[in-house]
Amino acid sequence: MTGGEAVAVAHPNIALAKYWGKRAGEGNYPAVPSLSVTLDGLSTTTRVRFDGALAADGLVLDGKPADGEPLARVVALLDRVRARAHRSDRAEVVSTNDFPTASGLASSASGFAALALAASRAAGLDLDAPAISDLARRSSASAARSVFGGFVELEVGVDAARALAPADHVDVRVLVCVTSERPKSTGSTAGMRTTAERSPYFAAWLAEAPRLFASARAALLARDVEALGAATEASALAMHASAIAAGVVYFRPATLAALEEVRALRAAGTGAWATMDAGPHVKVLVRGADAAAARDRLAAVPGVLRILEARPGEGARVEEAPRPTS
Ligand code: DP6
Repeated sequence: MTGGEAVAVAHPNIALAKYWGKRAGEGNYPAVPSLSVTLDGLSTTTRVRFDGALAADGLVLDGKPADGEPLARVVALLDRVRARAHRSDRAEVVSTNDFPTASGLASSASGFAALALAASRAAGLDLDAPAISDLARRSSASAARSVFGGFVELEVGVDAARALAPADHVDVRVLVCVTSERPKSTGSTAGMRTTAERSPYFAAWLAEAPRLFASARAALLARDVEALGAATEASALAMHASAIAAGVVYFRPATLAALEEVRALRAAGTGAWATMDAGPHVKVLVRGADAAAARDRLAAVPGVLRILEARPGEGARVEEAPRPTS
C-alpha cells in the first residue's frame, strides 16, 4: 500500500504532577507518574501525507522546512508507523502551532500526539486511543497525555496514558503567563538527562514525585481544588529544585516575579497555584470564578508579556477532510 493522507489536531497539556526523569532502558518510559490537564484554545494541527514518489520524509514546522533533531524525531515516529503498517513509502508532515514553539509551552506534547494520530490514520491503521498514546509516548512521554482530554494520568511502567476525569470535572482555568517568545535553551529531554546524571537531589525527587502525584490525584478525584493546587505547586518546585542542583535553570527574573505574585494572591485569599516546565513561563491554576481577577494581577507583573487563558480541553482528534464538491 502507498499513499494516504490525514489531518489531526491536538492540544498541549500542563502537568500538575510532573514527569521528570526516565526509567533505564529503551522505550522512553518515565521514572515517575504524572498527572496533567489538557488545554483547550491552544492547538497543533498536523497533516501527514504518504507518497510513494517521495525520496525522503519531510517536515514543515510553522511554515519553515525543518531538519536536524526535530526532523529525526518525526522520522522515528513515522518509522514505527511504517513498521506496524508494513509499508515503506515516505511522508510529508506539515505541522502548525497557534502558540510559540520550543518555549516551554509543551509544543512537543501536542505535536507528537497530533503526529501519532495523523500518521497512523494516513498509513491506514485504525488504532485505539491507548495505542496512539503509546506511539506518542515513545517520541515524547508528555505527548502520551495529550491524546486524551480533561485530566490525564501516566503511570510508571505502562505504555499509555489514561483519562482520569473529564474536562468539566472541576471548574478551573490555566493562565499561561508568557515571559519570553524565544526558544528555550535546554530542551526537556536534555534537561532531565542532566538532572539524572548530576543532581544530588534527583533521588529525592524520584522518592517525592509519586507522593505528590498521589496527593494531586486524590485531590482531583475529590474535587478539592485547594489541595490539587498545593500538590501542583509543590511538584513543580520539587522538580525544579532537583534540576537547579544540576545547573539546569529554567527560571528567569519574570518567572520568579510571577511566582511571587501567585503567592501574594494566595496570601490575599485568592486560590492560585503556579507550575513551571522546561522554560521560563508560569502557568497558574485558578478556579473559574477567580480567573479574571488573577489575570489582571498577573498581567501587571514586570516581564509577563501576555497571558493565555485556557480551560480543560478535549483530546486529540482527526480532522475530517472536506468532501469533494461535484
Ligand atoms: C517539564 O515529554 O518533553 O513538561 O519524553 O524526553 O520528550 P521527553 O520529555 P517531555 O518532558 C516534559 C517535562 C515537563 C513535565 C511534564 O510535562 O510532565
